[in-house]
Amino acid sequence: MSIPDPVFRPAFNITRASHVVHRVRDLAKSRAFYVDTLGFVVSHDDHDTLYLRGLEEGCHHSIVLKAGAEPACERVGLRVLTEDDLDRAEAHFRTSGLPTRWVQAPFQGRTLHTSDPAGTPLEICAAMQTKPRRIMHFETFHGACPQRIDHVQVLTRAVRPACEFYMAMGFRLSEYIVPDNSDELHAVFLQRKGNPHDIVFVNNAGPRLHHAAFTIPEVHHLMYICDLLGRNGFGAGVEWGPGRHFGPGYARFVYLRDPDGHRVELFTNHYQTIDAEDEPIRWEMSDLNTSRWGTFPPDSWRQEGSAFAGVAAGRANTSASAREAAIVR
Ligand SMILES: [Fe+2]
Repeated sequence: MSIPDPVFRPAFNITRASHVVHRVRDLAKSRAFYVDTLGFVVSHDDHDTLYLRGLEEGCHHSIVLKAGAEPACERVGLRVLTEDDLDRAEAHFRTSGLPTRWVQAPFQGRTLHTSDPAGTPLEICAAMQTKPRRIMHFETFHGACPQRIDHVQVLTRAVRPACEFYMAMGFRLSEYIVPDNSDELHAVFLQRKGNPHDIVFVNNAGPRLHHAAFTIPEVHHLMYICDLLGRNGFGAGVEWGPGRHFGPGYARFVYLRDPDGHRVELFTNHYQTIDAEDEPIRWEMSDLNTSRWGTFPPDSWRQEGSAFAGVAAGRANTSASAREAAIVR
């Protein structure tokens, strides 16, 4: 099967998935979920926008919640290392025929709005205001003790084009899923920061955001946060898990739906994949059941996602969806 070769020295340096920007209908309810229950830190609250970060994050925000009439994901945020990288990224997207626009985004340096070939609206910057890391301030930890953003997952019919586009920008393919006895890419796990993924593309109607994922310190936080969500009136938002991913990533996880349906994954830590000889791991769908225990994901997890604001989602590739007998993460 043809997997693009890795590009070890890309023209510009994307460093990681950085943040998500969501529209929510009721900021007070969102705050009760993200801050009072999950334990995110408020970096700034200007009454119609809430900027949140995890406990170990030194940058201003990894979640931006904007008050709006209808829930949607506005942007997926990526970071580049330097302003020169940002200019080179702008040129790359523009010459690839993709829209580019410079915008002012609070608490960020120069910010590029663009889209990838799958239609994912992206927000790329090289600088963000910093805040004190709370990593040693244990007295302020509560809820799930979310540490940092790790990755986002996007639903799209165009998995292979997305894989090729991101690998050309230096993303490494850590793992991928194909249907049994097939070379059709069903899911690709792409990374820049040296662990299994920064951005994941999975075949389904899209583009839509499936989830944003945040690390937590210990496995017991998965159970504790479910108990706390139940006590705080958010129990129906526990969508799948706690459980373990049998396949890409191997993490222990729980998936939650926030009050507007935006999906959050909380998970324990990942492995490293850094060296040049780290080859992508191939999973056929039936492989994912080899060591499985626990429940299968509900239909909501398999089919639903957040609409991207102003972006029409195409239909699923039904032939591939029909073969999705096993579980992707
Ligand atoms: Fe995930």
